[in-house]
Amino acid sequence: MTLTATKPLSMTEAIETRRSIRKFVQEPMNQDDLQDILRLASLAPTANNVQPTRFAVIQNKELQARLQEAAYNQSQVTSAPAVIVVYSDMEDFLQTAEETVHPGMGEEQIKTRAAGLRSNFEGQDVAQRGQWGLTQANIAFGFLMLAARGKGYDSVPMLGFDPEKVKELLGLPQHVQFAGMLPIGHRAEEGFPHHRHNVERISTFY
Ligand SMILES: Cc1cc2nc3c(=O)[nH]c(=O)nc-3n(C[C@H](O)[C@H](O)[C@H](O)COP(=O)(O)O)c2cc1C
Repeated sequence: MTLTATKPLSMTEAIETRRSIRKFVQEPMNQDDLQDILRLASLAPTANNVQPTRFAVIQNKELQARLQEAAYNQSQVTSAPAVIVVYSDMEDFLQTAEETVHPGMGEEQIKTRAAGLRSNFEGQDVAQRGQWGLTQANIAFGFLMLAARGKGYDSVPMLGFDPEKVKELLGLPQHVQFAGMLPIGHRAEEGFPHHRHNVERISTFY
């Protein structure tokens, strides 16, 4: 199978052929594909359907250059035609909890459920609920990588950056928590084959 897909990959193919790519073909992202990759990642589940995950999509070489500086000068940030920063924003959720409740529940239930969710999280401080929100955004980050690969794109997950500098560059509030940064595009290098513990090493069957 060729590594640059022309038709959607199966989930198994996407998982098996995803690998970190740090050099990308110099061409803009297809915007329909980009939208569809984000849509697929937005289908990731969250506890109580709280949906605190947010995507900052950067396709601007000047801003990418500044993000690269914030990422200890890792060159994949400017090599990629797009960079998606995935973060969670629990304070936004608290302000808009009603939006997360299924509309089929009806007005009264929506109000009651949203109030219940709010009171759960208002008992925690900003950092505690931020940490909880991050566990949710991490799931979407995984979905995002596989959605991209499934549509024939490559990426590299990154946490090697200064979060405070990235917040400043993107104009994000202090409380947000980053799942990671994902340069994305088509591969211009092959990357490394998987090197992983085998299943026996990491699994216990009861
Ligand atoms: C949460 C996370 C953060 C990472 N941060 C970086 C990073 O800052 N820079 C980088 O070059 N690779 C980064 N990586 C990529 C890993 O080095 C890579 O996924 C790992 O070596 C396995 O290789 P593979 O992705 O090709 O399977 C990160 C991966 C993950 C999952």
